[in-house]
Amino acid sequence: MRNFLKVLCFSLLVIGLFAGYSNYGIPQIEPAPPPVEEKLELGAMTMDKFIALGERLYNGKGTCTLCHNPTGGRAPQLESAATVASERMQDSRYQGTASTVVEYLYESMVEPSAYVVAGFGKAGSNDSESPMPDVSAGGIGLSDAELKAIIAYLQDLAGTDVTVSIPTDAAPAEAEEKTAEPPPAPRAALDTPDALIAKFTCGACHKVAGQVGAIGPDLTTIGATRDKAYLRRSLLDPNADVAEGFMAGMMPNIYGTQMSAAELEMLVDYLAGLK
Ligand code: HEC
Ligand code: HEC
Repeated sequence: MRNFLKVLCFSLLVIGLFAGYSNYGIPQIEPAPPPVEEKLELGAMTMDKFIALGERLYNGKGTCTLCHNPTGGRAPQLESAATVASERMQDSRYQGTASTVVEYLYESMVEPSAYVVAGFGKAGSNDSESPMPDVSAGGIGLSDAELKAIIAYLQDLAGTDVTVSIPTDAAPAEAEEKTAEPPPAPRAALDTPDALIAKFTCGACHKVAGQVGAIGPDLTTIGATRDKAYLRRSLLDPNADVAEGFMAGMMPNIYGTQMSAAELEMLVDYLAGLK
């Protein structure tokens, strides 16, 4: 009985310490369900639905509003992207091969440097290089059909005729019934810093982990000048300290709710080690 009580007390102590540690030792963050990955049912798609899909992709998976937003200043507003396209293609600085509005918008997303909107180029590139990533690649990875849905949305947004056609090479029509939003499945924990950086598209804005974003500071030696407390705060509350020469309000304020505490700490450790 004595022994049993000893073991019991010890176990309670261990559990208590662990609970205390996990409550107070690491920042408390509720992991949020990730955005639901939408299955494309193109067979029965109407143009209205295609435009609505484009709008969801624009605000969600495409991460467009990270940069194209009213607070920005670092990326142009896109309300009239479809109407200015013809001027862009005639501009002497235009390097691309598009000849229609649809082709221009498509090219803007997969080869952003074909035309760099004046004043928005990578610092020091004299508007010859775009800081926008190829959104069909990397962590964003939009498919051909998804890019076309976004074009439909941008044309509709500009109040012009929607001339992009809905791709037909896809899913059978009878699947239409099933498009009701599936319940968000909890995301599996990511276990490497590289996977986190890809998932949260840090490389769209930062030079880090082999990616070459140029909207935010270069992170390749960030650990030499910033300690873990600073880095943790940069992720949880990006506007607390704004890196010199950069604009507040660009770095998304979502990581505190979308990463687990363990993921956040792993990322902080990784960044602190970049010297
Ligand atoms: C990391 C920031 C960033 C992200 C993310 C981003 N963009 Fe951009 N985008 C820019 C910048 C900066 C420019 C201006 C430079 C240029 O013309 O390439 C631009 C230019 C454009 C243009 C050309 C506008 C014009 O007037 O010619 C289009 C169209 C565009 N983006 C669409 C998108 C869409 C759609 C998405 C999401 C799928 C997206 N962008 C995601 C930063 C971004
Ligand atoms: C849409 C662009 C964007 C994305 C995406 C983004 N950041 Fe940032 N980040 C910025 C900008 C701009 C700054 C500088 C302004 C500021 O400090 O808020 C910054 C600042 C930082 C800083 C502070 C740097 C310093 O020297 O003070 C760190 C660290 C950082 N980001 C890490 C990350 C990580 C890690 C991710 C992905 C989980 C990420 N960022 C995603 C734009 C972005």
